[in-house]
Amino acid sequence: MYQEFDQGALPLVDAEASGLPGIPDYLTETYWWAYIHPRAVRFFDRMIAVDVILFGNYRRLRDAAFAALPSRIEGKTLQLACVYGDFTPALASRLAPQASLDVVDVVPIQLRNLRRKLPGGSPVCLSCRDASVLGFSSAAYDQVILFFLLHEQPQPVRQATLAEALRVVKPGGRVVVVDYHQPNRFNPLRVLMKPLLARLEPFALDLWKNEISDWLPQDAAPVEIQKTTYFGGLYQRVVIRR
Ligand SMILES: C[S@@+](CC[C@H](N)C(=O)[O-])C[C@H]1O[C@@H](n2cnc3c(N)ncnc32)[C@H](O)[C@@H]1O
Repeated sequence: MYQEFDQGALPLVDAEASGLPGIPDYLTETYWWAYIHPRAVRFFDRMIAVDVILFGNYRRLRDAAFAALPSRIEGKTLQLACVYGDFTPALASRLAPQASLDVVDVVPIQLRNLRRKLPGGSPVCLSCRDASVLGFSSAAYDQVILFFLLHEQPQPVRQATLAEALRVVKPGGRVVVVDYHQPNRFNPLRVLMKPLLARLEPFALDLWKNEISDWLPQDAAPVEIQKTTYFGGLYQRVVIRR
């Protein structure tokens, strides 16, 4: 049902004709300008653009995600959704010799764009899937990473995505989430970010009002959940140990 791409050959795909998952409405309606339009991909996928969007914190947050994992990453890693900038090439460069990385995204142009950024021979498999309906076997991965994905999703999709992340990670493995968070009361960016997010990223404010742990399935029973905040609380890293 799903189409897999090894990083050597990522074809142009017609999602409907080939049985790939359709692009969810929240992406076509709310995020066409960021992830779907070819000009958007060209415009946003540069370090300067992602760094401006994150107020100069891109590298810090990327490295915070990596710091939740060993410096040489063993086993199987799953990245849920493509990320602009050098996130995936940098993650791939940390893999131990026999380790592998699978990256899933629901928008084919994002996968084609990522393939362009990966050096030849990277042990990275790209796959067009919806993160909320992965279709992978349970307990298949040693770690799963979600970098700024949850704030884009409506709550039911977000909950399903977290449930899938926990389902596919092995007992003892980690789910690492980096995303928005409610800034501290005295953070001056609070005043700017609230209307900006409400206008451009309407689901993001859910992360101001709720803990990520509130959206885990009731029967998840993780061994440990650790939250760290950054930049006056505007961002968070949550590491869930299954
Ligand atoms: C990880 S998020 C945002 C990352 C961050 N803004 C950046 O690029 O620096 C963007 C990606 O999530 C993908 N995405 C959104 N919803 C998805 C879903 N349900 N399944 C898979 N990918 C999804 C979009 O297609 C897009 O490529």
